[in-house]
Amino acid sequence: MKRLLWVAACLFGIAGTLKAQTPWFADRDLTLTGVYYYPEHWNEAQWERDLKQVRDLGFEFVHFAEFAWAQLEPEEGRYDFAWLDRAVALAAKYDLKVVMCTSTATPPVWLSRKYPEILLKQEDGMVLDHGARQHASFASPLYRRLAYRMIEELARHYGTDTRIVGWQLDNEPAVQFDYNLAAELAFRDYLRQRYHNNIGELNDAWGTAFWSEVYASFDQITLPKFRQMFMNHHQILDYRRFAASQTNDFLNEQALLIKRYARDQWVTTNYIPNYEEGHIGRSPALDFVSYTRYMVYGDNEGIGRRGYRVGNPLRIAYANDFFRPVDGTYGVMELQPGQVNWGSINPQPLPGAVRLWLWSVFAGGSDFVCTYRYRQPLYGTEQYHYGIVGTDGVSVTPGGHEYARFIREVKTLRPKAKPKETKPADYLARRTAILFNHENAWSIDRQKQNSTWNTDAHIQKYYRTLKSFGAPVDIIDEQKEFAPYPVLIAPAYQLADPALVARWTDYARGGGHLVLTCRTAQKDRYGRLPEAPFGSMLTPLTGNTLDFYDLLLPNDPGRYVIDGKTYTWNTWGEILLPAADSQTLGSYVDEYYAGRPAITTRALGKGTVTYIGIDSTDGALERDVLTKLYAQWNIPTLDLPYGVTLEYRNGFGIVLNYSDKPYTFSLPPGATVLIGETTIPTAEALVIAISD
Ligand code: GAL
Repeated sequence: MKRLLWVAACLFGIAGTLKAQTPWFADRDLTLTGVYYYPEHWNEAQWERDLKQVRDLGFEFVHFAEFAWAQLEPEEGRYDFAWLDRAVALAAKYDLKVVMCTSTATPPVWLSRKYPEILLKQEDGMVLDHGARQHASFASPLYRRLAYRMIEELARHYGTDTRIVGWQLDNEPAVQFDYNLAAELAFRDYLRQRYHNNIGELNDAWGTAFWSEVYASFDQITLPKFRQMFMNHHQILDYRRFAASQTNDFLNEQALLIKRYARDQWVTTNYIPNYEEGHIGRSPALDFVSYTRYMVYGDNEGIGRRGYRVGNPLRIAYANDFFRPVDGTYGVMELQPGQVNWGSINPQPLPGAVRLWLWSVFAGGSDFVCTYRYRQPLYGTEQYHYGIVGTDGVSVTPGGHEYARFIREVKTLRPKAKPKETKPADYLARRTAILFNHENAWSIDRQKQNSTWNTDAHIQKYYRTLKSFGAPVDIIDEQKEFAPYPVLIAPAYQLADPALVARWTDYARGGGHLVLTCRTAQKDRYGRLPEAPFGSMLTPLTGNTLDFYDLLLPNDPGRYVIDGKTYTWNTWGEILLPAADSQTLGSYVDEYYAGRPAITTRALGKGTVTYIGIDSTDGALERDVLTKLYAQWNIPTLDLPYGVTLEYRNGFGIVLNYSDKPYTFSLPPGATVLIGETTIPTAEALVIAISD
């Protein structure tokens, strides 16, 4: 283990350099399209027929060995890659590149029986067991050792194989809330390091003078119980940080190990875009990130009566904008080809919807898209899950035909592809970043102050407005530079420190337009209130004094009026005392604070600072305030209806219609239609070429 970590540490620098320099994907390919195939599920006599049809449908790569640890290492220390070699050879025969996987989501039964201490334990004490998947503890050093031994064999075998283009680690690696003893011991070590082995520092950070919570030593600390009423939320915040670090370390160590052997093969994993996950982008040895997305599974998040067959219009867009900024390159590893098996109801997608999702992934600038899965399984948990072909193994499903059409269309665009960053000037002029940190949501969720508050919904009100402007949006974290963005929005950014406030100040002084919203910088990074007037960390920046905040009953909204237009709010409203040089936008209508403002904006250096201390019921206030501000800043915006999006890449514009009515797009001067028509029906796409 020590040796491994040493090698990992040495390789870390190399991986970092490679990441910045290697162009894994070519502009001329635009996007590559692939599909999951599990050779171990099927009679070997059918592999060639299947892989030939995969090729005939136009796919360019296949994805192998994701859940095959039991076949790769049937007994401890005995490896069998011969079957996989035969599958790789057949893929190559049909010009299909291979994405290889590390299988760590499915340890074989011998492992769980011989080493039961690796099994994940839930908060209620239930120990997970063999018979499903994702039942091993990432915090278990023993589990990691066993996993790395298998991965090293696999990497030694395939690392120099030019038929393998890259690697996917694990499967949808999530943050585990694991109560295994190994996790508890690792949590204590994490805290010892974080608090310099000084229990006094930890007591201070967690505020343990409250309710006799004080600890005399690190050995007394256990994993916090989420479900125990009033559990110390500073401790929970640190536990979530720790849990995220376990997942990112496990992935990072896997990637470093593969890179000891891999030549010209990228390493990624397939993250779930979930605002609960705090580890995404924190495994620096990964070359780039990819994600998985499912669009229709019962919840009606779409537009109109049949919207549940089309899906939420911004679901893929948001994931694109969340993942792309991490490394500049991203792909989608799983995209639904048809009905799934795990939703509340599992409807057929509307005809055209699968292709619409593919164009949505493309619109964000992806380098590849891959679908889960080729054949519908005949047994096991996912029997009802559609594939590219049906249960007979050969009949192409409606979604399969939509994939084939998308692939053909992409191939027609390839000869016209320009460099990825070829985008119109007005589009780039409205480039906006949303500053995001999972820790804010974790912290707020334990102390919402109003049960109706929803951090993600608050952020989406801004995001949805930006997409209606036709703005390119990057969701960024604090590791990124702010200066490249004309506008930076930090919504409900609760946990902050003076260094971050200084960065925001420099950003505005340097010419940026900074927008901060309610609840921002009200706590320090441990989740404590600074010993100062409430909310005053921002006073030097915004000029505001936060007099107080109010929260209303859900069924009795308050009113806020701007320029004669009335908006409603419930969840959070701050009452501000603005600085003399601030412009105030609107005022409260009701209560003893009627006439007082929640929104201010003022010039700072070459830029501006705006503070929006209110969360509206429906996002109308956020939309109108941003519209007014972008006009004030001379930033050109569009006014796209909800359900229609417009993005640019490689000299192409992609207009998508998720709404329940046709949408007519006015072609920009000099643009020409390449795919579709300017009147875009529901679930259709229009692709245009921009003028030179
Ligand atoms: C994903 C998972 C896949 C498969 C799929 C079914 O969340 O990563 O392995 O189970 O769901 O829709």
